[in-house]
Amino acid sequence: MGSQEAGSGEEICQRRQFAKDPYHHKSNPFHSWFVGLLALCLLVFVMFFAFSDNTLAWSEKLSLYSQNYVPFNQRPQFKAPPYRVHPKHKLITNAFQKNTKFPSVQPGGLQYHLAYPRNYQFIIDNTEICKDSNPFLVLMVPVKPKDIAARNAIRQTWGKDKVVQSKVVLTLFMLGLEEGADLENLKNENQQHQDLIQSNFIDTYLNLTIKTMVIMDWLATHCPTATYAMKVDSDMFLNIDNLIIMLQKPGIPKVNYLTGMLMWDRPVVRSKESKWYVPEELYPDPKYPTYTLGMGYVFSNDLPAKFVEVSKSIKPFNIEDAYIGMCTKKLGLSPTPPPNPSQFKAYNSRYDRCEFSQIITYILGSSEQLKNYWSDFKKPGPHC
Ligand SMILES: *[C@@H]1O[C@H](CO)[C@@H](O)[C@H](O)[C@H]1NC(C)=O
Repeated sequence: MGSQEAGSGEEICQRRQFAKDPYHHKSNPFHSWFVGLLALCLLVFVMFFAFSDNTLAWSEKLSLYSQNYVPFNQRPQFKAPPYRVHPKHKLITNAFQKNTKFPSVQPGGLQYHLAYPRNYQFIIDNTEICKDSNPFLVLMVPVKPKDIAARNAIRQTWGKDKVVQSKVVLTLFMLGLEEGADLENLKNENQQHQDLIQSNFIDTYLNLTIKTMVIMDWLATHCPTATYAMKVDSDMFLNIDNLIIMLQKPGIPKVNYLTGMLMWDRPVVRSKESKWYVPEELYPDPKYPTYTLGMGYVFSNDLPAKFVEVSKSIKPFNIEDAYIGMCTKKLGLSPTPPPNPSQFKAYNSRYDRCEFSQIITYILGSSEQLKNYWSDFKKPGPHC
């Protein structure tokens, strides 16, 4: 992967060179000038890695960088997110922005603590579920009340097994309030599966930070004995075996540990057409601190209580994963790259049985896809 990236760096230099000097191949002085420039390009490229982050091994940096790589010529715009986006997220929802009012900011007022989870109350909380099962890992899946199809797909696939690699895993769904969602139905659903947590905030896209913080609050207050937890989106393929194996690798910390797909130096999206738009009033800095992409991040279960506490003093904004990045930074911590960073994948266009046996996360298109891929993935026989 590293050499590939070096290749693209060279290519960029070459393209610039050709643009300036279309006749270079005819004249020797230009040829040596070209070689010199190429060498300079490579040097700058190498120095970029050398000085960007001292805490990582070079090999790690290269493979991590290549995951988040955005070509130089696209950097000034920053409209696209740093990873390959599933087509369903590319539909920039104009309606979403036009019809959405961002909360007005009242410094020091209630708004300031909008994401502080203890402003909200649990309606369904499965009080004893953790004491009863004593999990090693809790998977917390934010999902809307009406999205029963997504919950059922997960219950049939990666949420099905209660014991994985001889570790107890608990899969729970976090819901807010949604207009038209029948509370009795939800209570029945929970009676049957005992896997719903519901809180009384309004469940909208802009409120995902509240949802994440309520997840943290539930873990801190209802499940403090679990060793690890993961916030994982409902549209994910999760290779749960590989995740448990990763967490049991020697040297994986049991405290102050947060991992996933790391996002470095991500600029805040200021384009109002974007799904990721954040007004300057909510987040003034041009960049986010290092954070883990919201599709699926894993943490030691001491962190939820710390996040809840520190969130009292951090102004909420609508990008939940970057907000967790802010909390992490304020705690004096930073996310750790996973042992094998290429296991946390965002989006790839096609299903590959071999690849799915090696990764931990993948973003999918639908619950149908999850069920189809899973049933193929679980067929006996070699994966590769
Ligand atoms: C977010 O949730 C709060 C609390 O329920 C609610 O007052 C607010 O209207 C919601 N905001 C959006 C944008 O949905």
